Amino acid sequence: MSLQDEVLRYEQQTPRSRAAWQEARKYLPGGDTRTSVFWPPYPLFFTHGEGARIWDEDGVARVDFINNFTSLPHGHADPSVSRAIREQAARGTSFGGGNEHQVRLARMLCERVPSIELVRFANSGTEATLNCLRAARAFTGRDKIAKAEGGYHGTHDAVSVSVKMGPDLMGDPRRPEAVASTAGVPQSAVRETVVLPFNDTVAARRILEEHAGELAAVIVEPMLGSAGMIPAEPAYLAMLREVCSDHGMLLIFDEVVSLRVGPGGAQARYGITPDLTAMGKMIGGGLPVGGFGGRADVMELFDPTKGPVVSQAGTFTGNPLTMAAGIATLEKLTPEIHARQESLRDRLAQGISDVAGEFDVPVRVTGMGPFYGMHFVERPIANARDAATVDQDFKRQVFLGLMNEGILVASYMVGALSTPMGEAEVDEHLDALRRVLARR
Ligand SMILES: Cc1ncc(COP(=O)(O)O)c(C=O)c1O
Repeated sequence: MSLQDEVLRYEQQTPRSRAAWQEARKYLPGGDTRTSVFWPPYPLFFTHGEGARIWDEDGVARVDFINNFTSLPHGHADPSVSRAIREQAARGTSFGGGNEHQVRLARMLCERVPSIELVRFANSGTEATLNCLRAARAFTGRDKIAKAEGGYHGTHDAVSVSVKMGPDLMGDPRRPEAVASTAGVPQSAVRETVVLPFNDTVAARRILEEHAGELAAVIVEPMLGSAGMIPAEPAYLAMLREVCSDHGMLLIFDEVVSLRVGPGGAQARYGITPDLTAMGKMIGGGLPVGGFGGRADVMELFDPTKGPVVSQAGTFTGNPLTMAAGIATLEKLTPEIHARQESLRDRLAQGISDVAGEFDVPVRVTGMGPFYGMHFVERPIANARDAATVDQDFKRQVFLGLMNEGILVASYMVGALSTPMGEAEVDEHLDALRRVLARR
């Protein structure tokens, strides 16, 4: 079977999603309101989710291994999270002032993540990284920032550089070019952003040292998420920590995704302490959220009783509904749940390698904690360039094939385990992959 056959199967299975998408196109450019969830020929439209499963407009249930891009560690409509939302909704959804849930969620994050001495909330991960960078600029008095090639930190200008690149635009692997990742990013933003090769400790150090006096911060995901769940080498992060300390730059870990890799996030796992941490996704329990925190002397820039002040606003920031959902989610995310999700992930990763081996299909499974990325290539995957070498048609074929067989992952072939999943769901994923590869 070819990619075309999988597309045909998909179209036969999902006529109502197609109709919904066609209707949507009349009002929403491209028929959706989020470029990242579009895939050809058209994306699915969903009606509801429960536990490990999600239903589409045609009534087809799939096991959801992506859970709104890893933001739902306990799956859909988790009873305790839903209860917290219902109870708060009955008391009001947003107030123009403080509320007790903010304080409680802030305390939980400070207790869980030792580098976070003070924290603030926002409405998205994008705002979280934006405020981290603004704080770093205010703190250091410098304008430039450095980021890793292939790192995704949301949609604001400073970080919309060298995220996803065509192979012709990537430049020298040891000295990547800074390239705008979308139309509309001003060249001034591109010029202010220095791009580092991911996981190349020697080359990245050299670039950082060349720009040392002008850089406010290095922002990095400890595991490249949207590039395919590619963990950083410990030595790479250790080098970033050292160079930042030596040259007065702040080290910002973007843990919007990776906070879920275990208690204390990826920083606890690596034993590396960033100055600031950006958070999002799961800390809002499925509602819109961002959070950022870290060293008290930097976070105090946001304190209006002191000065100089970095102003941060947002009408729905810290709203009690999101905060209540976040608290319920974190309370349930115990060390035991972290460990269980990780052991299921190990079973899945081993199974994916075994199933691909049955069909002589090369695969590299990356990831950490509950997260996995599937890369159908022989070469080890250390960065976004390695991941970009996969056969894109084959990747699409497996993505649509899995969907046709009842398994939902991200179109860039990553997923995460969730609390309502057990060995049965892992085996469903493996059986689906076996059927897809058998007919390829
Ligand atoms: C690592 C990382 N940082 C930041 C963001 C941006 O978060 P949001 O989509 O909430 O703006 C994302 C979103 O996928 C992310 O994966």
